[in-house]
Amino acid sequence: MVPTQGQLHLFGGDWTKEKLERVRQYLTAYTKIMRKKDYQFGYIDAFAGTGYLALKDAKAEAKRLFPELMETEARDFVEGSAHVALEVEPPFEKYIFIEKQGCRSSELQRLRDEFPAKANDIVIVQAEANTYLQDLCRNRVWKKHRAVLFLDPYGMQVEWETMKAIAKTRAIDLWLLFPLGVAVNRLLRRDGLIDEGWRHRLDLMFGDTGWFSRFYNVENEQTFFGPEQKAVKTADAKAIGRYFVERLQSVFPGVAKNPLALSNTKNCPLYLLCFATANPDAATLAVKIAQAILRGPRIR
Ligand SMILES: C[S@@+](CC[C@H](N)C(=O)[O-])C[C@H]1O[C@@H](n2cnc3c(N)ncnc32)[C@H](O)[C@@H]1O
Repeated sequence: MVPTQGQLHLFGGDWTKEKLERVRQYLTAYTKIMRKKDYQFGYIDAFAGTGYLALKDAKAEAKRLFPELMETEARDFVEGSAHVALEVEPPFEKYIFIEKQGCRSSELQRLRDEFPAKANDIVIVQAEANTYLQDLCRNRVWKKHRAVLFLDPYGMQVEWETMKAIAKTRAIDLWLLFPLGVAVNRLLRRDGLIDEGWRHRLDLMFGDTGWFSRFYNVENEQTFFGPEQKAVKTADAKAIGRYFVERLQSVFPGVAKNPLALSNTKNCPLYLLCFATANPDAATLAVKIAQAILRGPRIR
């Protein structure tokens, strides 16, 4: 089905297809395993978008070549994560799509028409992801439930409190985009003079203040006015990624050690696609499957 203009959400590039394909592979393996088990299992998408994406790079190129066509219509689109999850067979028993923006969550309603057999299993929530997830994780009984959760924010929206709540369920497998190049590495100025507001956002995302001493060397310098402390950035993108994986390992019983760098056309890593599981009983298998998917050949 061709999406309407309202359904198209302009975002991403080739790396978007890469990310969605890896998640699709995991969801397919997951439902095959879970249908043989005695749990109710669902898919939760906490930054769900509209169900469709118009790719930025493709749109820019098409606009250059066919400006008259682009006035009215976006030419290239891919199915977004909510759509991808609905296509997976065998199906999940429940789908929860969370989206903060009202117009986007209304667009998600159209997915029910596209998947009538699954319409009754779809729950669409207009909410802030952290607030909704913390409540869902802390106040539901997870013993007989299992889920895959996809966190696909634009930037540093996911708070560490949410990660801790997810880990405590002992029931959720998590795929997460860590905003390595689009946000974190950019904010980490060479001289360490990071705006107070941004420092606070980094604390909220990493869940502590330890990142500063991991990413910076603080040196004492003799100046005309006396001794002064000077910070120098020592961490590169790889070191920042390693630190985030360590943070995941501090709360989740299983974490893929090989997150996948999603890079732009200039080969700059924008995001890291990470996997962690909260379920200690199935951690070894879940991590093995996720690591194999993350190691798989590039998808273009
Ligand atoms: C990168 S897009 C998600 C794309 C989607 N996963 C897909 O494949 O189609 C991020 C989405 O999260 C929504 N969003 C941003 N901040 C949010 C928040 N705090 N809570 C819930 N949704 C949020 C945005 O409106 C946007 O639709």
